Amino acid sequence: MSHIVAPSVLSADFNHLGRDAQMINNSEADWFHVDVMDGVFVPNISFGFPIIKFLNKEATKPLDVHLMIVQPERYITQFRDVGAEILTVHYEASTHLHRTVQAIKDAGMKAGVALNPHTPVSLLDDIVEDIDLVTLMSVNPGFGGQKFIENTYKKIKALAAMKSGRNDDLYIEIDGGVTLQNYGNLVEAGANVLVAGSTVFKSENPTETISGLKKPIA
Ligand code: DX5
Ligand code: ZN
Repeated sequence: MSHIVAPSVLSADFNHLGRDAQMINNSEADWFHVDVMDGVFVPNISFGFPIIKFLNKEATKPLDVHLMIVQPERYITQFRDVGAEILTVHYEASTHLHRTVQAIKDAGMKAGVALNPHTPVSLLDDIVEDIDLVTLMSVNPGFGGQKFIENTYKKIKALAAMKSGRNDDLYIEIDGGVTLQNYGNLVEAGANVLVAGSTVFKSENPTETISGLKKPIA
């Protein structure tokens, strides 16, 4: 299976959100990546339920919702009700991660766990069979347009080794600083979902940039 590309709506033009959603619909992108920030877990606030509900009306592709919020377990059904198909919570924000993951799956969504750059992959050893996706943060969460952290390659390889034979279908998603220059190396290391915000939306031709990120690696 070829890798998935998920443009991050955080970098879209909110004055023309419907237009940007149609661009994603009509492109080779696979998912919408939707960043929710609460100003507590991360030093920024993005958007919440009304915007996601609107996006879901426009979107013809799954919403991959990344919660950068404390106590994410409080809002699981509300995110399902506004259209989340994949719901990802941060390891660092989840005291009872196993319970939260089960609740996400019971609500009918795929469950993801995100790791900050300093959080080792080995901490997932006792939950890797229970989850559908891991987001490896390749920048410190909170903002688009930051520089990719090179240590991420080591984490991709560690996670690829961990999932092998235990959860071969696990998605390994990379979030932050993904570019047309590094996407091939990320896929080669074992990533199969690439989030891209500024690389897509700050480019001359976002549709072509998405095609570029979708190109199979040689
Ligand atoms: C960062 C967000 C990312 C962000 C990526 O906290 O989780 O999804 O939108 O943006 P780029 O691709 O510009 O690094
Ligand atoms: Zn994200």
